[in-house]
Amino acid sequence: MSSSSNAHPLWSSRFAFILAATGSAVGLGNIWKFPYITGENGGGAFVLVYLACILLIGIPVLIAETMLGRRGRQSPVGTMQKLTASEGASSWWRLIGWNGVIASFLVLSFYAVIGGWSLVYVGHAASGEFLGADTDAIGALFGGLLSSPGAMLFWHSLFMVLVVFIVARGVREGLEKAITWLMPLLFVLLLVLVGYAMTTGEFGRGVAFLFMPDFSSLTAEGVLVALGHAAFTLSIGIGVMMAYGSYLPDGVNIPKTALTIALLDVVVALLAGLAIFPVVFAEGLQAGEGPGLIFQTLPLAFGQMAGGGFFGTLFFILLAMAAVTSAISMLEPVVEWLEERKGISRLKGALLGGVTIWFVGIGTVLSFNIWADVHPLAFIPGFDGRNIFGIFDFMVSNLMMPLGGLAIALFAGWALRRETLDQELALQGSTRDLFLFVLRYVTPLGIAGVFLYNLLA
Ligand code: PFF
Ligand code: NA
Repeated sequence: MSSSSNAHPLWSSRFAFILAATGSAVGLGNIWKFPYITGENGGGAFVLVYLACILLIGIPVLIAETMLGRRGRQSPVGTMQKLTASEGASSWWRLIGWNGVIASFLVLSFYAVIGGWSLVYVGHAASGEFLGADTDAIGALFGGLLSSPGAMLFWHSLFMVLVVFIVARGVREGLEKAITWLMPLLFVLLLVLVGYAMTTGEFGRGVAFLFMPDFSSLTAEGVLVALGHAAFTLSIGIGVMMAYGSYLPDGVNIPKTALTIALLDVVVALLAGLAIFPVVFAEGLQAGEGPGLIFQTLPLAFGQMAGGGFFGTLFFILLAMAAVTSAISMLEPVVEWLEERKGISRLKGALLGGVTIWFVGIGTVLSFNIWADVHPLAFIPGFDGRNIFGIFDFMVSNLMMPLGGLAIALFAGWALRRETLDQELALQGSTRDLFLFVLRYVTPLGIAGVFLYNLLA
């Protein structure tokens, strides 16, 4: 983004914003999380609900959140303060901003740990450890990482240092440009992996698992997870897109931009699923394996395909980079808020935020080993059986992001003046009416419905 000394800085163009927002959206959520939660929740029916959530909830909230950010031109907290005042709306809406600062803080604490895993796997791939390895060897490699908190902490720390360095130094422009080749390359590598999946003899079963809905395998919590993931994967509901929108020049077509980002994001996730499930079935692995799923399957694929050492190394480098471009977006609401409210410099804000988040992340590191079976909130219904990582992921992805999305849809749809909305979105005729109908009714009722279903089921 270009920085001018007095005014709030702006992205140089619509394209720069698309790059940054796509960098935020596409990440571990698509390649690590989507496959493993799809596996845990039985496949097709879950995927269908997830896609419906993207369309009816994710995209409208992405549009609304970006628009609010541009209108307010401040941190999520400042933006909501400004907009509630200028629109004559209740100050309760400001909770949207606070929810954002807190949730983006929490999400980065565990995201950075998984980001560390992808760094570890760059090394594994490059040193040829995947070549010819069987499921046991690959399983042992992953198990070795999990059982070593020291190693995990090291890579988690390295990942955080990278993120803080980029945010603090404002060297983001280079990174945003890198997204122009990062995304196509990631796409190509996923196609290579899908190509390999086609040779496993179980491609059909993988496709069926992803796309043939079997509603008997979908639980109420599965529906909530699908909703939560629609929010997680698009980075919405917690002020990240609001923060990015605050740098967006006037006149950029927000709905069109949001559609582009969502489409890219969905395609990457589905390709990851198509690459992974055939390997799962061909190797007799468990679809419901959990957070280790891609780290247990993709190395097998790389170990067997021609050029696997090269492709594997490149793939994990790209995965780590995609994780970094998402992670820097999570730090943005925190740093923007510290800069604006506390008058702290960007450097200090990034350091302060980064160190605190890193420290909280230790809880997630330990959740995969010595604290794996520690369930601190077991006394709260719905939290039994969740360790620290489980609690953070559940709270952020399945509660704070969808509820933040609900509040954003309600605020933009009902509390914002109609002229404001029309000015910002420049939609016309039936498109405008349809969008307004979805934002005011379909999106909020959809989110509320999922929560009710979970409370009653
Ligand atoms: N959308 C990112 C992904 O799919 O990996 C994750 C993410 C980014 C979540 C930013 C939340 C956020 F605020
Ligand atoms: Na995503």
